[in-house]
Amino acid sequence: MPGLFVAIEGIDGAGKTTVLERLARMLPGVCTTREPSGSPVGALIRSWVLQGGTVDPRVDALLFAADRIEHYKREIEPMLREGCTVISERYVESSIAYQGAAGVPVEFIKLVNSAVPRADLTVILDVDPGTALARIGRRDRAEKYERGDFLRRVREIYLMRAREEGYLVVDAGRPPLEVAREVAEIIASRLRLRTV
Ligand SMILES: Nc1ncnc2c1ncn2[C@@H]1O[C@H](COP(=O)(O)OP(=O)(O)O)[C@@H](O)[C@H]1O
Ligand SMILES: [Mg+2]
Repeated sequence: MPGLFVAIEGIDGAGKTTVLERLARMLPGVCTTREPSGSPVGALIRSWVLQGGTVDPRVDALLFAADRIEHYKREIEPMLREGCTVISERYVESSIAYQGAAGVPVEFIKLVNSAVPRADLTVILDVDPGTALARIGRRDRAEKYERGDFLRRVREIYLMRAREEGYLVVDAGRPPLEVAREVAEIIASRLRLRTV
């Protein structure tokens, strides 16, 4: 049976990387990965898009989608085929939330992401943007996607999508161990459902 594909979502500073590291230690058979990926398109996104290089947010949407197709086909799909529980830091919902908050119509974002499948399970780590920005210490020298007002819009879209799609929302304002335990239990119960 192919592995379970889990996407961990949330605004910058929500604690995604922290939770992924803990999940890899708490659960057996986990492979973790992240977006932007290690591909050349991912490198372009980190060096240029995230520094504010583009003039139209649709360019961002296209590049993130291109990186995601590479990421899925070259890394995620092979790991799933091997039976790994693949946990990705960010996936399609990041584009819907971030490029959506930047003004790209959701139908455009969905269309350019239609080449990759949905994750089996999407978990949103939800935290107040003020808390998140304090954690990453970037209140003043904010990058393109790390301003408080922007992150508030991103968070609202995540929560709206959770209501629409039934994604699980986890309170990420608590200590890392508590957050990781709750997410681990969600994943473990989903894995148990698949084996019965
Ligand atoms: N639950 C938490 N409570 C307090 N600080 C946290 C928590 N989770 C992560 N952090 C800290 O916040 C910062 C951002 O966490 P990180 O996991 O990199 O967030 P993300 O990957 O969502 O941007 C790091 O310095 C991390 O140690
Ligand atoms: Mg991270």
